[in-house]
Amino acid sequence: MVIAIDGPAASGKGTLARKLAAHYGLPHLDTGLLYRAVGAIVLAQGRLQDEAASVEAARGLDVTALDPEALRTAELGEAASVVAARGNVRAALLDLQHRFAAQPGGAVLDGRDIGTVICPKAQAKLFVTASPEVRAQRRHRELLGRGEDIAFAAVLADIRKRDERDSARAAAPLVQAEDAVLLDTSTLDIPAAFAAALAIVEARR
Ligand code: C5P
Repeated sequence: MVIAIDGPAASGKGTLARKLAAHYGLPHLDTGLLYRAVGAIVLAQGRLQDEAASVEAARGLDVTALDPEALRTAELGEAASVVAARGNVRAALLDLQHRFAAQPGGAVLDGRDIGTVICPKAQAKLFVTASPEVRAQRRHRELLGRGEDIAFAAVLADIRKRDERDSARAAAPLVQAEDAVLLDTSTLDIPAAFAAALAIVEARR
């Protein structure tokens, strides 16, 4: 069974993907980490605006060496969304994602274009969302918890900018797949959101 989970930043999709993967005993890929890793490489080279450098970084990416802790910073979220708007970068990361999804027992993938582009035939597709304010609160708490000193207003502005860039881009924009089920987590805590997600997946099995 392949479970595809998409949605904007801090919608809860990562938490739900992890919990669904644990529940079904499936491998999980947070595809945002791929774009963050590419962003990290070109930022370190001082070449964020260089498309060819980002394509090269994407081609050489070693998925076994991704460090989620180091990659989940606000700065790399922003850099990820810059490189992710480039069609050639996305193309360079396709094969790796397809291979992950094709594992014998199935897989859980979360990102922006899983149900629309990467796994259009996934059995279960969720589009997870929440209001920008709720998402900014969650992300703010998470960043403070990691020791990043950042104001709530800055986090909210970042989220709005990233939503806009991810939704407006030509290459695989953030959009709900026609056959995805919408799950708004604005008023749900984690157990309630997980119960709702599980019910959606069970209905598709
Ligand atoms: O999910 P996360 O916040 O880690 O993603 C960082 C950025 O990577 C997103 O804002 C988006 O621009 C990009 N991304 C993407 N497609 C995916 C996953 C992430 O374009 N499947």
